[in-house]
Amino acid sequence: MSDTDHRMAPASTLGVFATLRRGTQVSPQLLDGLVITVLLAVVAAVGRVVVPIAVQQTVDTGILAPGGPQVERVVWLAAVATLVLLVGAVCSAYVNVRLFRSSEAGLLALRTRAFRHVHDLSVLTQNTERRGSLVSRVTSDVDTISLFVQWGGIMLLVSGLQIVVATVLMAFYSWQLTLLVWLCFVPLVVVLQPLQKRVNARYTAVRERYGAMLGAVSEAVVGAETIRAYGVADRTQRKIDASIGGTRRAMVRAQNLVATVFASGVLVANLVLAVVVVVGTHLGVTGEVTAGQLLAFLFLVQLFTGPVQMATEVLNELQNAIAGWRRVLGVIETPVTVVDPGADGVPSPRGPARVELVGVDFSYPDGPPVLQDVHLAVPAGSSVAVVGATGSGKTTIARLVARFMDPSAGTVLLDGADLRDVELATLRERVVLVPQEGFLFDGTLAQNMAYGLRDEGDDEARVREAVDALGLDTWVDELAAGLDTPVGQRGESLSAGERQLVALVRAHLASPDLLLLDEATSAVDPATEVRIARALASLTQGRSTLTIAHRLSTAEAADAVVVVEDGVVVEHGHHHDLVALDGIYAAMHRAWVSQTR
Ligand SMILES: Nc1ncnc2c1ncn2[C@@H]1O[C@H](COP(=O)(O)OP(=O)(O)OP(=O)(O)O)[C@@H](O)[C@H]1O
Ligand SMILES: [Mg+2]
Repeated sequence: MSDTDHRMAPASTLGVFATLRRGTQVSPQLLDGLVITVLLAVVAAVGRVVVPIAVQQTVDTGILAPGGPQVERVVWLAAVATLVLLVGAVCSAYVNVRLFRSSEAGLLALRTRAFRHVHDLSVLTQNTERRGSLVSRVTSDVDTISLFVQWGGIMLLVSGLQIVVATVLMAFYSWQLTLLVWLCFVPLVVVLQPLQKRVNARYTAVRERYGAMLGAVSEAVVGAETIRAYGVADRTQRKIDASIGGTRRAMVRAQNLVATVFASGVLVANLVLAVVVVVGTHLGVTGEVTAGQLLAFLFLVQLFTGPVQMATEVLNELQNAIAGWRRVLGVIETPVTVVDPGADGVPSPRGPARVELVGVDFSYPDGPPVLQDVHLAVPAGSSVAVVGATGSGKTTIARLVARFMDPSAGTVLLDGADLRDVELATLRERVVLVPQEGFLFDGTLAQNMAYGLRDEGDDEARVREAVDALGLDTWVDELAAGLDTPVGQRGESLSAGERQLVALVRAHLASPDLLLLDEATSAVDPATEVRIARALASLTQGRSTLTIAHRLSTAEAADAVVVVEDGVVVEHGHHHDLVALDGIYAAMHRAWVSQTR
């Protein structure tokens, strides 16, 4: 496996049509019932040109009829026109609803698939690619597509057809005037296209500034305590003011351009109308068009200019949507590096787990080797402690055993089976990693403790049982609201030690065969320390345990100790043997003893 496998494709490199094809393959719902939608759009477009036809007929055959005005015919024409208008409006609304439905269904599928895929990606891919960018791909990029499919789809369908129908009808009344209108408008589209691009660039700038502003504001809110502690409130405020000001300037710049573009569009449209009136009157005098036809023509020009002005905007929306689509497809097409063998995996029945690392090498993407030729064994039911300086690769070992990633060389074996051959669902049941800093979700203590429970059941009772089993009932009872105590965002209402206790209850509920414990480095008060030690004793009872030990008391109690230095196992044996060896471990231990006792 090469390092580049871990990185996410920045965006798919497909061409426009290939992107559309691939996009509709991923979300086939987008094409559901498209034929009927197009037919309805045709009816809607025809419905919109009924007014000019009715006007022409009313003037030429009703009001200016050879035998004097024919009121009955005018009423009849008005009635028919109203009916057609109504049918057109209903069809148009129905086209909206249908496009909305199919696009929401299609984009739901896309979003779900992208989200699932993000979950399947190894932690490495998620680390390399900033998580925020992944979130924006699954949310706002999909929104861009959705905006285009709904709004742009309507524009393309109904307005595109409206342009066609209006042109056909205009040509029917007067080919000379039609030619004139087209000649006036083609240059407008040509001029508007680059202008619209600049509008887009300015809006991109607005979005970037806005994102930066949100970042600055939320960071200041989240970090309020640190800001206050260092008395840097003024400086922070200036930074925030600057980013708010930047957003405002970017917005004003964008709006100015939009106003100019819009005003020039309206101006050109009205100039064209004026030209049509002048030339049309001329043609009328020579008998080439009737009064009714000229009037109808003026209406048609308006039906024509609206969508033409929109066309450039739609094209840009289309470009945005394609870009968004490429980014989302890029997520979906990023290869999953930690491949799940699924049901084809070798059976891995529950029971005391035996783990071995055989000649394991590992390096993070683009990084130096972190582990080199690591050999390590945790016999079934025994406890092994890994000790070593910070950055020596201890957490990396735990991650490899949990198969958050695969080793660059060598193998990790669970009961003799290569981890790569064990179904991930089974592996997650048998092996649980309690990370150095567990993540707590906004909710109650009980909800967080029950977080790892996969099956449905009486969570409350099971949490209670686990709390009792770990001897934490006195602690929970001391809390104001007991198990219903809210933990705050990321558990910030709890102390570091309390967060560890929650993590231990979580692990107990998951009831794994092998427990990977990455001891927290944060110091806790003596009372909590005792609680943690007691809870750990019950938690590790009868289970294979691999502990990344920061407290050497854990190493003293373990069946075996592994000393890691710069990614290499340098010492291995029981605590007493290693002390007797008088090597690195003995020195670490002496330092620790003099500090704590
Ligand atoms: N996600 C990552 N991406 C890139 N490099 C990483 C990543 N995680 C760790 N490293 C690097 O790998 C090396 C080993 O890190 P590791 O977290 O395994 O150390 P550790 O022994 O657990 O340290 P500590 O005692 O501080 O927890 C370090 O040099 C670290 O910078
Ligand atoms: Mg660590």
